[in-house]
Amino acid sequence: MANLYSSAFDMINPFVIASSPATQGARNVLKSAACRPGAIVLRNYGHGSGGGSYFHPNVEAVYKGEQAFHSHAVGVQIPDTVTTLEQYCEEVKLIKEKMDSDIKLWVSIGHYSDIVKGGNWEAEWKRQARELALAGADAFELHFNTPGVAVAKDRQFNYYQLVSSCTQMIRAEVPTVPVMVKLAVEGCDALTSMRHAVAAGASAVGPTARWKGFYFDLDWKRTEARPGAGYGGTQANPITCYTVAEARSKGIDIPIFAGGGVYSYDQALRLIMAGSDMVQLGTIACSGGTDACKRLIMRFEKWMDENGYADIPALKGDALSLFSMDGAFAKERQNTLGAAYREAKVNQETCIGCGRCVDVCWHQGIEITGRKATKLDACIGCGYCFQVCPTGSLSVDKGGILASAFDRE
Ligand SMILES: Cc1cc2nc3c(=O)[nH]c(=O)nc-3n(C[C@H](O)[C@H](O)[C@H](O)COP(=O)(O)O)c2cc1C
Ligand code: SF4
Ligand code: SF4
Repeated sequence: MANLYSSAFDMINPFVIASSPATQGARNVLKSAACRPGAIVLRNYGHGSGGGSYFHPNVEAVYKGEQAFHSHAVGVQIPDTVTTLEQYCEEVKLIKEKMDSDIKLWVSIGHYSDIVKGGNWEAEWKRQARELALAGADAFELHFNTPGVAVAKDRQFNYYQLVSSCTQMIRAEVPTVPVMVKLAVEGCDALTSMRHAVAAGASAVGPTARWKGFYFDLDWKRTEARPGAGYGGTQANPITCYTVAEARSKGIDIPIFAGGGVYSYDQALRLIMAGSDMVQLGTIACSGGTDACKRLIMRFEKWMDENGYADIPALKGDALSLFSMDGAFAKERQNTLGAAYREAKVNQETCIGCGRCVDVCWHQGIEITGRKATKLDACIGCGYCFQVCPTGSLSVDKGGILASAFDRE
């Protein structure tokens, strides 16, 4: 069995259940602990509870690991039962007493609305840090991600300055407790915000993709979701992978806990292979519950076993050589595949003469004669036709060809 231990913060696995209804108060944190993640982030207190969920196309897509997007700008928001720091600290103590001791508890500090309201919120955040450290928080999480900060930032504050000053402030107040700085991916330059957090002493950075959105069914009056911050989805995965890989290749060397749109094990694998140490699970925890998270972790482990990855260090950053291949090598690899496309002939036995290949060829590289397709000298090897052929009559060993370039290297 693959070893999922994540050494950055001594976690049993790299999964962190993100601040959300699934982590609101001690009861929900303890409920979420049933999936045995590496850590759970206790949600901020006193800022409302609840919050519903809208899935497109539907929650089934999530269970099948298909593309899906999500909005939590729906449902009723009710007052939080925990309204004071003292009560919040009691929740922390209760969790520490009851939760398996090998699951870490990250505790949220502050809320963006404190900043928006003004007043001496800095003193209040420092007080929270001191009290929460005494209550037993294993780490603090500062939220500069969406939805909150997406709404607050750029209206009244310089985002990067806010990241810097708050990180520095909490770090200085309680130097013994790690500070996890959760950051937005959209509406700012994620690399710049990570650099500010690192320079300010962050223990880890968490680029997390959720964004402002506006979705409606064509019969728009029936749409549950409403415009605003709180949209997310699996389509974020290429963006977050890029964000993490770019950070790693440009010198961000502290632990990363990326998140956003991780609804199945493969998205989590990609984030870690792009260089993240940990992965946050938000929507999947809320909408799929502990069962979906358990399954995700199990499948993640199974994939590692089947693909010969013994542990997280072996997996972490394994795709960075793909990310950072130099231009000449990338071109050579692409040209090798192009040459294979150009040379490949149509399998005359299986071709059904449907004409799809001709329809997508923009270079007069293929024609149909006598209900069979034939490649012509004008073919440039772009590969369009290979992707649309319904019978596999146009095919090359794409994976083998692309991999062989790395093998030669
Ligand atoms: C219903 C819901 C409520 C959330 N509430 C908060 C919150 O109060 N504070 C916060 O920092 N993040 C909140 N988030 C964001 C998550 O902590 C996490 O960063 C995000 O959901 C990760 O993306 P994913 O949902 O695509 O996995 C919430 C997410 C959801 C789905
Ligand atoms: S590979 Fe491109 S150029 Fe060649 S036949 Fe197919 S679509 Fe046309
Ligand atoms: S798409 Fe495939 S099956 Fe259809 S005509 Fe072209 S080669 Fe033949």
